[in-house]
Amino acid sequence: MNERLEQPRAGIATFVDAALELSVVGSFSRIGPSIRRRLFAWTDPPTGGLAGRTVLITGPTSGLGRVTAEALADLGARLVLVGRSREKLDDVRAALARRAGEDRFSTVVADLGSLTAVRAAVAEILATESRLDVLIDNAGAIFPERTLTADGLEATFGLMVAGPFALTSGLLPLLRGSGGRVIAVTSGGMYSQGLDLDDLQSSVGPWSGAQAYARAKRAQTALIREWSRRLAGSGITFTAMHPGWADTPGLAASLPGFHRYMGRLLRSAEGGADTIVWLAAHPESAGWTSQLFLDRRARPFDRAPMTRLSAEDRRRLWDAVVALTGGWDPTLGR
Ligand SMILES: NC(=O)c1ccc[n+]([C@@H]2O[C@H](COP(=O)([O-])OP(=O)(O)OC[C@H]3O[C@@H](n4cnc5c(N)ncnc54)[C@H](OP(=O)(O)O)[C@@H]3O)[C@@H](O)[C@H]2O)c1
Repeated sequence: MNERLEQPRAGIATFVDAALELSVVGSFSRIGPSIRRRLFAWTDPPTGGLAGRTVLITGPTSGLGRVTAEALADLGARLVLVGRSREKLDDVRAALARRAGEDRFSTVVADLGSLTAVRAAVAEILATESRLDVLIDNAGAIFPERTLTADGLEATFGLMVAGPFALTSGLLPLLRGSGGRVIAVTSGGMYSQGLDLDDLQSSVGPWSGAQAYARAKRAQTALIREWSRRLAGSGITFTAMHPGWADTPGLAASLPGFHRYMGRLLRSAEGGADTIVWLAAHPESAGWTSQLFLDRRARPFDRAPMTRLSAEDRRRLWDAVVALTGGWDPTLGR
């Protein structure tokens, strides 16, 4: 197209996208991806675009993780499916093998809220895989009551911060060798919360599962930035994405009122997972470290000044998570 016509069109698209972001509902609901797909002329990754690549995904047995696994399988990836239920993993693997017409899928059982289980999973993966191109940290949950993991960590923090940190740490040798990409699936809910670095495990005040969840997601994205900074030049890319509001079993079970209220306005699981697949498969995403995405565009990490973490806060968070996961800083080597 003529450049004189294309520039104003790009300006209008950016303006409409920003207006959607400001409205929140327009951005997070199914309206977001349906308008943005047309505005920015999205194209889907080419068939076979991930052939020869290995992608690990946590939480592939439901919701976003399940449809992401299907999309990545369609793109030809070899998948390492990490979940807590042997039976569910076997079902997903069998369905993927039927879909792909071949079995390029392996399963690893691990409760990501258990550091012992994560370490055992790491050992298994290091022993069986020769490369890891993409690690998708997707498993997550909201806990209605405050509970502790076997490691003595608050369960939300254990599942969405400590477990993924230990998993990424242990798999760094494979990620380094493949110029890997780490994609953290976070939540727009984190925009509502800062982080109390003196109370990372929500032990003070009345329990709110949604608040603990938003704080854990805030910590998860802050760690993505810290990984990027500490491993700059390593060839590994660390990004986060949030899926908006997607109709999944997890959302229906954890926020039934919101799920009912939003009804048909919710995105499909595929609409929520689109940016995960896009980041995993895009030929240029290796250059996009330390960024947060929604609907294939970089978004701010903060919307309100009081939720912002300074560089020093992020360093303190890192040190705290290192201490809580066994005291080994994976970026300093053994
Ligand atoms: N849906 C949304 O609108 C939305 C919005 C913002 C962020 N997210 C995030 O997107 C991710 C996927 O959510 P979803 O909506 O797809 O939820 P979902 O349908 O409940 O799926 C969650 C997945 O995480 C796994 N999981 C939960 N606890 C685990 C544990 N202790 N160890 C290992 N795996 C565990 C589940 O395994 P089982 O099958 O064994 O339970 C399941 O595979 C989560 O991180 C969530 O916070 C979702």
